[in-house]
Amino acid sequence: MDVADDRASKQATAARIYDYLLGGTYNFPADRAAGEKMIEMFPMAPAGARNNRAFLRRAVRHVANLGVTQFLDLGSGIPTEGNVHEVAQSVDKNARVVYVDIDPVAVSESLDLLRGNDNATAIRADARDAQSILDHRQVRELLDFDQPIALLLCAVLHFVPEDDLAADVVRTLLAGLPSGSYLVLSHGSVEGMPERAAQLEDAKDLYKRDTATQLKPRTRTEVLRYFDGLDLIEPGLVWVPQWHPDADDPTDFVDNPSRSACLGGVARLS
Ligand SMILES: C[S@@+](CC[C@H](N)C(=O)[O-])C[C@H]1O[C@@H](n2cnc3c(N)ncnc32)[C@H](O)[C@@H]1O
Repeated sequence: MDVADDRASKQATAARIYDYLLGGTYNFPADRAAGEKMIEMFPMAPAGARNNRAFLRRAVRHVANLGVTQFLDLGSGIPTEGNVHEVAQSVDKNARVVYVDIDPVAVSESLDLLRGNDNATAIRADARDAQSILDHRQVRELLDFDQPIALLLCAVLHFVPEDDLAADVVRTLLAGLPSGSYLVLSHGSVEGMPERAAQLEDAKDLYKRDTATQLKPRTRTEVLRYFDGLDLIEPGLVWVPQWHPDADDPTDFVDNPSRSACLGGVARLS
């Protein structure tokens, strides 16, 4: 489906609902309606999105400062403030980034933004077909698989509801990366909000009904399994506001980080 067809379909997408929650402008009436329903169920959803995004920026800066210059960002979303290439290239101007998303609007807006940047590109692909991403010509052209790569899976695996498939995606991608690479992962979790169980079911119904994507938050134990065999760096898998907080972070959840409903961690492949 090209962008024009997608607009015509009037169906909401996960990428554009997230853009709406972040206060972006790359969304259509169906996305805004779905976003408003999400906010009714989870009034903290926009702050959760902001905090996930802030985690992503801190994690990219962290691994870039550790010397990583290549980034493969799956489920990269619609460009917003502090994109991966901007953060990574502010640390090393030669850092290379490939954005991957299933949403045509996310990809076309990313390509627009990246015009003139030879060290970053965006491709449309389905993260569930992990091997095809590793084999993708543009991925191979821009990234050197003999050098460490930071694999970003931020707020995307909860859109792969099948547990075995989600685990297989992570395993396949990591198996294709050289030692010294990193996994940066964040994932929706309502473990800290048992009182929202009913709203969670409504939110799952919303994604099932209004988008082509299904939603499955996971427990901390389930998310931790994605890091099996890797060296989790401090402070481990935590609520995103707790991961190497910065002075300029959003302050929404300082008193109760589990309200962010998002766990994040960074690990190294030895
Ligand atoms: C909540 S946004 C996260 C964006 C960004 N990673 C972040 O953390 O700010 C989730 C993104 O994952 C994308 N996505 C969902 N399922 C996908 C799939 N199977 N393959 C690739 N992208 C997918 C959506 O289109 C959306 O852009």
